Amino acid sequence: MDKKSKKLKEKIVQAHLGGGQKRIEQQHQKKKLTARERINFLLDEGSFEEMGMLVTHRTTDFNMQKQQFLGDGVVTGYGTIDGRLVYVFAQDFTVFGGSLSETHAEKICKVMDAALKVGVPCIGLNDSGGARIQEGVRSLGGYADIFYRNVQSSGVIPQISAIMGPCAGGAVYSPAMTDFTFMVENTSYMFVTGPNVVKTVTNEEVTSEELGGASAHSTKSGVAHITSANDFECLKDIKKLLSYLPQNNKEITKKLPYSFRDEIRDELENIVPDNANKPYDMHKVITGIIDNDSFFEIHKDYAENIIVGFARLGGRSIGIIANQPLFLAGVLDVNSSKKAARFARFCDCFNISLLVLVDVPGFLPGTDQEWNGIIVNGAKLLYALSEATVPRVTLITRKAYGGAYDVMNSKHIGADMNFAWPSAEIAVMGAKGASEIIFKKEIKVADNPEEKLAEKEKEYAEKFANPFRAAERGFIDEVILPKDTRRKLLKAFSMLENKEVHKPDRKHGNIPL
Ligand code: COA
Repeated sequence: MDKKSKKLKEKIVQAHLGGGQKRIEQQHQKKKLTARERINFLLDEGSFEEMGMLVTHRTTDFNMQKQQFLGDGVVTGYGTIDGRLVYVFAQDFTVFGGSLSETHAEKICKVMDAALKVGVPCIGLNDSGGARIQEGVRSLGGYADIFYRNVQSSGVIPQISAIMGPCAGGAVYSPAMTDFTFMVENTSYMFVTGPNVVKTVTNEEVTSEELGGASAHSTKSGVAHITSANDFECLKDIKKLLSYLPQNNKEITKKLPYSFRDEIRDELENIVPDNANKPYDMHKVITGIIDNDSFFEIHKDYAENIIVGFARLGGRSIGIIANQPLFLAGVLDVNSSKKAARFARFCDCFNISLLVLVDVPGFLPGTDQEWNGIIVNGAKLLYALSEATVPRVTLITRKAYGGAYDVMNSKHIGADMNFAWPSAEIAVMGAKGASEIIFKKEIKVADNPEEKLAEKEKEYAEKFANPFRAAERGFIDEVILPKDTRRKLLKAFSMLENKEVHKPDRKHGNIPL
C-alpha cells in the first residue's frame, strides 16, 4: 500500500474510534450503542455511505485545537432501509458528549439539505450534551440552522428523530419540529431545562427520568410518539414506521401485493355491546377491519381516549383515527384533539388516506378543559380534518353526539364516504340528557317523574338513537352490517384512489394553534 493510501486508512480507523475505546466501552456500559453501531443496525447491510468523516472543529478557545476528533461528534451520510434511500445523522456521545459545535451542525445541515433535494426521509439519532459549551453562540447558531431546515423540510420529506441519550436545552426543538419522535426507555431524556435549574427556579425536586424520560414524554406531555425498550427495538420501530410512509410528499406509499379474497369478517358483529353505556375496545374493530397484524400505533400511551396509527388495508397504507370507548368513554378532550389533529395533518402532507372510526359521546366538560382551551384545541382537529384533501372515509360504530359528530370526519366537513353500523346513534346528545332538557316541564308535572323520563327517553332514543335519520338526509352514504365493513372500506378507498382536490390559492391557512 502506498504511503498516501496508508494515511487514509489510518484516518478511517481513527474516525471509527470516535472519542476512543474507553468511551465506547462507557457507552456500552450504559446499555447504549455507539453512533456507528446504530447506523449499521438501522440501514441495510453495507449500504451506508459516510459524508464528512474527516471534518474537525475550528475552535481555538480553551485550547480546543489540541482536542480534535475526526467527524466532530456526529456521523452523517446516506444508505437504504428495505432498499429505499434515506439520509441519516447520528450524534456520537463518545466525542465531547455528542455536543453540537458549529462544524457538527454544518454536517447535520448538509444531510438535511441533501435529503430535501433528493426527496427522501431524514432520520436523526440524537445523543448529545447539547450546545458545545466551548463554542458559545456559534453552536447556538448551528442549532438555529438546523431548526430552519426542519421547517423547510416539513411536509416535503418525512423527518424522524430518535432520542437515544440526553437531549437538552435548545437541542429539543429540532426533534419537536420533526414528524415523529422516538425515545428509548431508561437511557434517554429530553427537557428544556434540567433538574438542577428546575430546583433553582421552582424549588421542585425531580429526577431526569421523571422530568423528561421516555415514560414522562409518552404519557404526560405527548412529546414522544413511540417508546422502545432499547436501542435495537427503537431502530426496528423506525424501520417499521418508514414502511408505511412515502419517500416524499409527491409520492404515494407503494401498495403491498394483495388479492381480493372473501372479505366477510364475522368477528366484527359482536364487538359493540347492546347497552350503549358499556365500553368496548376499539382496537378490536381496527383489527377486524385491517390486513392481519398491520397496525402500527402512534402515541399509544398518550390521550388514550383516541387511537391513532398506521395500518394496511388491502396492502394500501392508511392512517386511522378512532375514538376509544375504553378510556373516558372515548370523549374528545384537549390532548386527544391535539393528538388526532397532528396525525391527520401528517397523513394529509404525505398522501396517506384517512379512516376515522367514530364512537364519541361529545367533548369533555369542566373548568380544566375550558381553561386549557378545549375550544381552540377541539378546533385544531376540526380544522385539520376539514383541510385534508386525501381520501377520507368515516365509520360510525356507535355514538356520534353533538359537535363531536361534526368534528369526527362528518360528511359536512368533506369526508368522501360515510358509513354507519346499525348500532350508530347520531344525535345532539344521549337520549337521557336530551329528554331531561326538552321534556323538563312534562316530567316535572308528571305523577311519576321517573317513569315519565324513562318513557320520554325511549321515545327520543327510538327517534334519534339510530343512523337512519342521518342516512335519510345523505349525511351517511350507507348503513352497513359490521361483517361487511372490510369489504366496503376496501372498495371505498380503491374508488377514491385518484381523488383530486383543487385548493383555493392562498399562502397558508391559519389553523388555531
Ligand atoms: N459541551 C462540551 N462538552 C460536553 C458537553 C457540552 N455541552 N456535554 C458533555 N460534554 C463532555 C463532558 O465534558 C465530558 O467530557 P470528558 O469525558 O472529556 O470529561 C463528556 O462530554 C461526557 O460527559 P459527562 O458529563 O461525563 O457524561 P454524563 O453521561 O455523566 O452526563 C450530561 C451527560 C449531558 C448530563 C452532561 O454532560 C451535561 O450536563 N452536559 C451539559 C449539558 C448542557 O447544559 N448543555 C448546554 C445547554 S444546550
